[in-house]
Amino acid sequence: MEKRQELYAGKAKSVFRTDDPDKMVLVFRDDTSAFDGKRIEQLDRKGMVNNKFNAFIMTKLQEAGIPTHFEKLLSDTDSLVKCLDMMPVECVVRNVAAGSLCRRLGVEEGVTLTPPTFELFLKNDALGDPMINESHVESFGWAKAADLEKAKILTYKVNDVLKAIFAEGGMILVDYKLEFGLYKGEVLLGDEFSPDGCRLWDAKTKEKLDKDRFRQGLGGVIEAYEDVGRRIGIDFDS
Ligand code: TMP
Ligand code: ASP
Repeated sequence: MEKRQELYAGKAKSVFRTDDPDKMVLVFRDDTSAFDGKRIEQLDRKGMVNNKFNAFIMTKLQEAGIPTHFEKLLSDTDSLVKCLDMMPVECVVRNVAAGSLCRRLGVEEGVTLTPPTFELFLKNDALGDPMINESHVESFGWAKAADLEKAKILTYKVNDVLKAIFAEGGMILVDYKLEFGLYKGEVLLGDEFSPDGCRLWDAKTKEKLDKDRFRQGLGGVIEAYEDVGRRIGIDFDS
């Protein structure tokens, strides 16, 4: 599928039109951003690593019956996906307290959350991605209540599938963010799943293996992403 005109450049990915109006190409760049785009750096190999990571996870999710926009890998950095009408909402599930939950509620990092929490954030960098609730989504027309409910059910289903995959690789899925959109009336998982949008800790040492390494200046960011990938069976050389 030929890449045509660039439609949109996000903080870490660019989106290109194709000759099929229902399909587009996601290009994973080496750009890495944090703090709502206030910090952006290029990290060598990141585009390739996240593209292959995302392809692997999306395929596992599809095999588990979770509908996603992913079609196929096109190259090291490019993937073909379905064009979705995205909900401007981020769905976050947390199995363990970390990040903004700790800052907001004064909870200690590492506390297990039973059952896992579900939170919604508005995708708006200028406002710092504020936390919102279901009624905001409906009242402001960001998504229909029934579609948001489907996204919520799918977000929890993703937890069951991915917790097990990462546990087998000796890791804890601490939390993650998902984005959904509509394709011909159906709610599909869109965007990406990579260590940029989740927290993963080594189960024994609790070492951070995700984008917190970038946010907290711990170094070895892409090395950690590749380590996570290899532990769950991704071959970055193929
Ligand atoms: P938080 O602790 O900063 O609220 O983030 C929770 C999880 O969601 C964490 O794995 C990072 C991810 N996330 C993003 O990837 N992008 C975002 O804009 C937000 C708000 C969270
Ligand atoms: N993805 C968001 C950003 O780049 C938030 C984060 O990951 O810290 O700015």
